[in-house]
Amino acid sequence: MRLQGRRAVVTGAGGVIGAAIARAFVAEGARVCLVDVRAEAAQRTLQGLESAAVVHVADLRAPGTAEGIVEAARAAFGGIDILINNAGLYPNTPLLDLPDEEWDRVIDTNLNGPFRLARAAGRAMVAQGGGGVIVNMTSGAGDSARPGSAHYSASKAALASVTRSLAIELGRHGIRAVSVSPGLTLGSEVSPLSDEYTRTLIAGNPLGRAARAEDTAAAVVFACSDEAAFITGSVIKVDGGGSAGRASLPFSTPRA
Ligand SMILES: NC(=O)c1ccc[n+]([C@@H]2O[C@H](COP(=O)([O-])OP(=O)(O)OC[C@H]3O[C@@H](n4cnc5c(N)ncnc54)[C@H](O)[C@@H]3O)[C@@H](O)[C@H]2O)c1
Repeated sequence: MRLQGRRAVVTGAGGVIGAAIARAFVAEGARVCLVDVRAEAAQRTLQGLESAAVVHVADLRAPGTAEGIVEAARAAFGGIDILINNAGLYPNTPLLDLPDEEWDRVIDTNLNGPFRLARAAGRAMVAQGGGGVIVNMTSGAGDSARPGSAHYSASKAALASVTRSLAIELGRHGIRAVSVSPGLTLGSEVSPLSDEYTRTLIAGNPLGRAARAEDTAAAVVFACSDEAAFITGSVIKVDGGGSAGRASLPFSTPRA
């Protein structure tokens, strides 16, 4: 039990990766506050975890949400030791057609909300006497652009930067911050992916498949465990080598 007794908040817990993180956390002995704007999806994740989890329905974009989430964890478990900023949107729109409203929605959900929640959770962790872990879910799209992802890429690049700021400012309180960057993961009900996009990414992946949500959940458990006690400010990529290079290129020297 690597997270025995830890009190965790997982945002986007009604989604594919968030649900896997919640299940893995409970299996490792943590108690989890399942946060999502979609009440039914969060309730679905709760099934089977009732003895160790509670649902808190909240929209990360609304004012006061961050403090409300930290208070929900305090009311349910007495405090917060782990925050997983996992909720995120990834709509895809060509840059020249990208409306202000969509840009703002993505930045509010993927960057402003997670920043405010990290700040509120960090304050609570310090007030508790220090110690804790904050994981921000980033993306390879934050390191390399792709068509239609200007807002998403900007939000994830900036969130990785927030991770580094959290690490250097909160380290002296014993609080670590880690970015976890999943590879292509299928199944989102909110941000569906086209078959062509999925096929192309898998074709270029050295391990030849998409990520399973459980692959990422295992890395998040590790990042939050004492095994990762000296890891802070860095990015753990769970992408099957997808960002390591161009696996689908042929060898360059002509072969007879
Ligand atoms: N799926 C992938 O291929 C992939 C790759 C790299 C990074 N990521 C990142 O991993 C995280 C999880 O992705 P996923 O595939 O599980 O997505 P998902 O769409 O299955 O889940 C995201 C969840 O966040 C919730 N959410 C959205 N906006 C919210 C808001 N304003 N307030 C509260 N909850 C909100 C949604 O209701 C949903 O349940 C995201 O941050 C995503 O950007 C995903």
